Amino acid sequence: MMAARAQADYDYLIKLILVGDNGVGKSGLLLRFSEGSFATSFNTTIGIDFLIRTIELEGKRIKLQIWDTAGQERFRTITTAYYRGAMGILLVYDVTDESSFNNIRSWIRNIEQHASDNVNKILVGNKADMDESKRAVPTSKGQALADEYGIKFFETGAKTNVEQVFFTIAKDIKQRLSETDTKAEPSTIKINQPDAAGGKGELTQKSACCGC
Ligand code: GTP
Ligand code: MG
Repeated sequence: MMAARAQADYDYLIKLILVGDNGVGKSGLLLRFSEGSFATSFNTTIGIDFLIRTIELEGKRIKLQIWDTAGQERFRTITTAYYRGAMGILLVYDVTDESSFNNIRSWIRNIEQHASDNVNKILVGNKADMDESKRAVPTSKGQALADEYGIKFFETGAKTNVEQVFFTIAKDIKQRLSETDTKAEPSTIKINQPDAAGGKGELTQKSACCGC
């Protein structure tokens, strides 16, 4: 018989979710954060994918479980089902696509309906690496929207700011968890298999499609 693991391989388990319109670059962001190992990246996401990466913050091991949702409307029922368990939500738009920015308000309404009240949110304007002539949403507009909702804001593009976005939201959530002293239950990581890795850079990925 297998002995039960005496100790979890992390100090905090943090569940994040990426939301935003189809094609804004949610999977691309995750690909970059995973250092290139996120295989399904540049196909449109079908339903939902997830990735695990363990990082170190202030001497603690933080296991990030990141859910990457499909932006396409037809997957909305399955993707919103994942909001409830999220501790942090990355709201992503494309700085070259104004409608993806305008839709952030409806993503926020969606979150208010389906996610926990105390969920941390962060606004991300992606594709900032593209030529300035392509830009449709100025940085100041993104910042103003974030200020209105009282959340942090980053622009990302190619390699820029990707780590900062994930580390910032993870840090804020860690802070919130340590204040309320509700450390995540080790049992909640059952959906993830490998016990072998651990430490910095552990990576797994799985597709949890709707069965199509
Ligand atoms: P769905 O899964 O359909 O919701 O889309 P998504 O938000 O996951 O978009 P995805 O990551 O698949 O990216 C869509 C397209 O945008 C791809 O062709 C990427 O190459 C491109 N892209 C993604 N991120 C960036 C970026 O930071 N800069 C630039 N220039 N292109 C990007
Ligand atoms: Mg995707």
